[in-house]
Amino acid sequence: MLKNLRSTWNDFRHLLRARENVLAAWPKSYYRRELIPVRCLHRWMFVVNSPAGVQQVMVSNAKNYRKSPGNSQMLKPLLGNGLFVSEGELWTRQRRLSNPATHGSRLQGYSKIISDAGQAMLADWRTRGDPHEEDVTEAFTLLTANIISEIMFGYKLGASVHTLYDAFVEYQATHGRMHLTEFLGLPTWLPRPGQWRGRKAVDQFDRVLAQILRAGKDADGEMPENFLHMLLSFRDEEGKPMEPSLVRDEMASIFLAGHETTALTLSWAFMLLEKHPEVEARVHEELARVLGGRSPAFEDVPNLTYTRAVIDETLRLYPPVHAFTRQAIGEDEISGQKIPAGAFVTITSWVLHRHTLYWEEPEVFKPERFLPGNAAKIPQHAYIPFGAGARICLGKHLGLLESTLLLALIAQSYRLRVRPGHVVEPLGRMTLRPRGGLPMRIERRG
Ligand code: HEM
Repeated sequence: MLKNLRSTWNDFRHLLRARENVLAAWPKSYYRRELIPVRCLHRWMFVVNSPAGVQQVMVSNAKNYRKSPGNSQMLKPLLGNGLFVSEGELWTRQRRLSNPATHGSRLQGYSKIISDAGQAMLADWRTRGDPHEEDVTEAFTLLTANIISEIMFGYKLGASVHTLYDAFVEYQATHGRMHLTEFLGLPTWLPRPGQWRGRKAVDQFDRVLAQILRAGKDADGEMPENFLHMLLSFRDEEGKPMEPSLVRDEMASIFLAGHETTALTLSWAFMLLEKHPEVEARVHEELARVLGGRSPAFEDVPNLTYTRAVIDETLRLYPPVHAFTRQAIGEDEISGQKIPAGAFVTITSWVLHRHTLYWEEPEVFKPERFLPGNAAKIPQHAYIPFGAGARICLGKHLGLLESTLLLALIAQSYRLRVRPGHVVEPLGRMTLRPRGGLPMRIERRG
């Protein structure tokens, strides 16, 4: 009895630690194991930690796994039935409809929007004195929010970008942690702590979305063929347009999924460049050689192989989407372990990307792994910063293009250095963020 109580208390403390920072839930031993059954209170969860297991859950037997209700619960108040959380037929239809928005043929047009927005940020930095300090996570989030709005909705956010930023920070603070209730097995419709506080953030968010939508509807006809236009011109087999609430949910989903991840990639990349002067010097050498002082453009990206490898390696060590939680619909078997129907399965790219069986010197920042010729040696599904299978990131190629172009543009003119004395701590919540932001000194390169 006493032993049971002690074990429940230990489970509970572990869960509380994980709720504060999910990364703290992964002990050292996980980094060398392939499948880990974890008992959490009265429930089993399986950490699937091998390329073959990932392949099974996300690709070959993906139909047997749905996004976990607890995770969806975290996102639903903001994203409703949007692409990131929807399932089944609705997801299939909406995904098919959304795919053209990020098709390769559109990327060249998008790169002009990315470069112009990046240049506008640099122009603003020039007015701030040299050097000056920025919380780069915030600066890059504002930048990528402007970019995704212009690309997907044809809308320049202006001052509203701050409203969206504040609303999302508030939402993350109230909804961004895993719910203990999920582990307690309580129904998802039960009110969760903090749920109501986030409502105000959603209202703020909705006001800006409504503004964007009004502008989109007014411009209908002359509007470029962007994502919003695609949503508004959709007609089903009976000729009916998309429900207004679903248009709203898809806008919220693409906006959210499409900017914070890229902003975090850039933030972590600059933090890593400072720590690795030899890598930074190689990036500077490549930028000088390929660009010769010009600003980077779409056509340059294939030649910026080392800069791109820095992005790939950043996404290995600091994947913005650091964990995927699914729930098994029917029974399955992974690596000889029976997975009962209803069990939770977690794939953590934070651990998988640092796994000792699949990576040489996993803790070392080595962009060379991703250079042409070397990348082919990485086992398939050992590296999943964009997920895998049918639900792979819709914006993978856009996110990579955007991160590479912006890293090149910024590093060409500036050196970024973490504020002396500031301790950078990765915090695993809804996304992988630096705790308390990332204050950096921005100095012009000579
Ligand atoms: C470096 C940047 C990015 C990273 C690391 C990233 C990562 C991810 C990951 C890991 C998923 C899969 C989540 C899961 O399976 O549970 C995902 C899904 C998604 N991403 Fe991205 N993403 C990035 C950029 C973007 C951009 C620029 C867009 C804008 C179009 C975008 C839109 C989406 C959407 C709509 C989904 C849901 C797809 C679905 O369920 O069908 N992402 N992203």
